[in-house]
Amino acid sequence: MTDFKLEIAKQIAKAINIDELELKTYIEEPKDTKNGDYAFPCFRLAKELKKAPPQIANEIKEKIEIDNKTVEKLEIAGGYLNFYINKELLAKEVIEEIGKENEYGKSSLGNGKNVVIDYSSPNIAKPFHIGHLRSTVIGGALYNIYKYLGYNTIGINHLGDYGTQFGKLLEGYKLWGKEYNIEQDPINELTKIYIRINEACKQDENILNACRENFKKLEEGDKESVEIWQKIRSLSLKEFQKIYDLLGSKFDSWNGEAFYQDKMAEIIEILEKTGKLEKSQGAEIVDLSEKGIKTPCIIKKSNDSTTYATRDLAAIMYRARTYDFDKALYLTSYEQVLHFKQVFEVAKLLGLEEKYTKGLEHVPFGMILLPTGKMSTREGNIVKLEELLNEAIQRAKEIIEQKNPELENKEEVAKKVGIGAVIFSDLSASRLKDEIFEWDKILNFQGETGPYIQYTYVRTRSLLEKVETLPKTEEIKIENLQDEYSMKIIKLIYSFEDKLKEVTQKEEPSILAKYLIDLAKAFSSFYNENKIISENKQMQDARIYLSYSVGKVLKKGAELLGMQMPEKM
Ligand code: ARG
Repeated sequence: MTDFKLEIAKQIAKAINIDELELKTYIEEPKDTKNGDYAFPCFRLAKELKKAPPQIANEIKEKIEIDNKTVEKLEIAGGYLNFYINKELLAKEVIEEIGKENEYGKSSLGNGKNVVIDYSSPNIAKPFHIGHLRSTVIGGALYNIYKYLGYNTIGINHLGDYGTQFGKLLEGYKLWGKEYNIEQDPINELTKIYIRINEACKQDENILNACRENFKKLEEGDKESVEIWQKIRSLSLKEFQKIYDLLGSKFDSWNGEAFYQDKMAEIIEILEKTGKLEKSQGAEIVDLSEKGIKTPCIIKKSNDSTTYATRDLAAIMYRARTYDFDKALYLTSYEQVLHFKQVFEVAKLLGLEEKYTKGLEHVPFGMILLPTGKMSTREGNIVKLEELLNEAIQRAKEIIEQKNPELENKEEVAKKVGIGAVIFSDLSASRLKDEIFEWDKILNFQGETGPYIQYTYVRTRSLLEKVETLPKTEEIKIENLQDEYSMKIIKLIYSFEDKLKEVTQKEEPSILAKYLIDLAKAFSSFYNENKIISENKQMQDARIYLSYSVGKVLKKGAELLGMQMPEKM
């Protein structure tokens, strides 16, 4: 498709000595199309050229030839140059592109580049909490979008399956394992054991020592300890898998913290050689105060055990070697901002190529706050996510039962709607904002929710059913799609790929979520204002085709976010 912004930038470059690609980034899209489709603000140039913006606008305008091919009209408004593009060309190209077999908006932009995404990463024997849900959902969306843009994407579930707490868990398991129904309800029962052993450690020094001893044994590969650890790990994973199945989450690697057990010695050796590793109160640390980070990064605790940070450093080394990453993203809540600052700073001492240390990026997100009550149980404030997801499905089912009791495959649709609602609500707010979880907000069929996107898609599908066969692309008469409502949709569809790129530039899937809302709303206006099924066959064909196009983009976009689309609801 024509890159309208670039064409405009090329024209401007004739008048101004700035690279067209840079000029392209200056171009804005006016909110009100009365001010054109694209606008070039001259304010930024005023200082450099020592001229007033309107004067600059005039001078540029003089040098631009309007060929009517891409741009139809050019106007000056204050310090802006407003460009009105050739709407027919735009509509024609969008319709043609939609008609092609390929997946709309797919790109080869990222070919040859590797992106590692570390997401979900829950902790073994601990509850999969709502923060992990966000990580899973945001990371999953980024994974899909990078992939769609041609990147080689590697999704890693960096399980928290290692650390001194396992010494405690092992001891607790040995002491009281039989008293608990671990097979039945592993996470909850193991959490109980964990709380109990922590209490016991406080009371009895001997127990604490036994726990330390256990962790040592685990590190040394003692058979019994490793076996218990493996059992706990696999039972926990089975629990997590239930959530992943509901969400449709997949990972390329499940290498968790334990995987780096034998890879930390090298890291410590390198750090020793740099002379930056110092002793402090029995621990070994890297002081980062010179880098503006007040808290040092602890590499080895006073009891000689390694830390979460050490394992992350080993993981960076491993991922650089194994995946040769251009970007390595980490999805956690903003509570870990300091951790990643420290780790990324220490990583610079590992002698890695700059490409790698520059590619490291923590992608923090805000918290989801739960109104207390049903969703959080007292014990350790556990939020049972599986219950939450099932509740979403249940509620969706009730709504379907009310609105469309005759619907086929109600179960399946309820699952798509319920889960889709949770996913979309997680993705629609800006990543860093804290959110309050409210059922009525996320399951609403009219508001800016997942079900609204699905509902709009279903409307486009039922329109198609009315006409039985989809009109052929080449038979669409573009002049029937030049009204305001159709053009609004066409412009949105045109910008789909740009939106996806923007998501990866900002690591912000909410950009896509908001885009889908805009598209769904534009479709509603189009649908309300234009008669779609009509006597005028050519008009009907064009409008049906546009509806089909909207459906295609909504479906693709929602799927990239990790949602599934029902065909009816
Ligand atoms: N397991 C950690 C947690 O639950 C998240 C791990 C994030 N990834 C990483 N490489 N540190 O908080």
